[in-house]
Amino acid sequence: MTDDSTAATTTVDRYGVMGYPVSHSRSPVIHRLFALQTNQHIQYELLQVSPEKLETAIRQFQRTGGKGLNITVPHKADVTRFCDHMSERASTAGAVNTLAFQGGEIVGDNTDGIGLLRDLAVNLGVTLEGANILILGAGGATRGIVGPLLEMQPQSLRIANRTLGKAQIIADHFSSAGPVTACRFNVVPVSEPYDLIINATSAGLKGEAPPYPAAAVSNNTFCYDLAYGLKPTPFSIWAREAGAARSVMGWGMLVEQAAESFKIWRGVRPDTAPVLKQMTIAA
Ligand code: ATR
Repeated sequence: MTDDSTAATTTVDRYGVMGYPVSHSRSPVIHRLFALQTNQHIQYELLQVSPEKLETAIRQFQRTGGKGLNITVPHKADVTRFCDHMSERASTAGAVNTLAFQGGEIVGDNTDGIGLLRDLAVNLGVTLEGANILILGAGGATRGIVGPLLEMQPQSLRIANRTLGKAQIIADHFSSAGPVTACRFNVVPVSEPYDLIINATSAGLKGEAPPYPAAAVSNNTFCYDLAYGLKPTPFSIWAREAGAARSVMGWGMLVEQAAESFKIWRGVRPDTAPVLKQMTIAA
């Protein structure tokens, strides 16, 4: 049992997020809210680290008593090289967004896919089983979500990308896990309406809206942008203009993937609903 006097003298466990750039990250706010809610004493820092300094920065954080890290753009694939162990979902994705330092070892996990699934299926009530899904983009974000989406047994999952080769590599990698195919943006087959279109390109971060296939959107299509912002993202504006049933930004995925990381580190999963509400109100 602890009382306030022991809590005050307890060393605070350190966590943080490493990215480049990272100043825009909302993770410190989210983890502070989780910690308050679950009565955990933690400190969570923003750590801007360039790619060539990544390994040194991670090892230094570990050596100086850090307990865990979130890893964000552009380090998610690179960091797999420094992990002593990786979860199956991180190995399958070839990307890590959560590190836990356990017994002197670096353990990598990836909570992006489960975060997206929880937001879609639990928070937003989107049915994935039997759905026709279109993912736009074929970078690290797509790698993290294809496996978990296929586990939900969609009817089809198509990856469309500006560069066909990158989409094809991901489709080939996951082909034994489900019905996944690849194509270019401009040749997305639209004979079957898409139930769900997910934007996983980084185009919006640069304020760009590439020539996404508007004919793929019907008035039953749910559009989801992995990106989020204070204002509607270029993709969410595009989706509304194309006539989507609903267009949602990735605030929910952000909070859900953070909750999964928090659970890995602290053994307790926070209630995401109030935090998501607070984040989107603040936005
Ligand atoms: P990552 O580091 O995750 O791989 P990235 O290289 O920035 O991220 O790209 C993520 C995705 O966004 C890629 O699919 C990229 O398309 P290409 O594979 O053709 O490079 C896509 N993307 C980025 N900017 C884009 C733009 N302006 N138009 C279309 N696609 C874009």
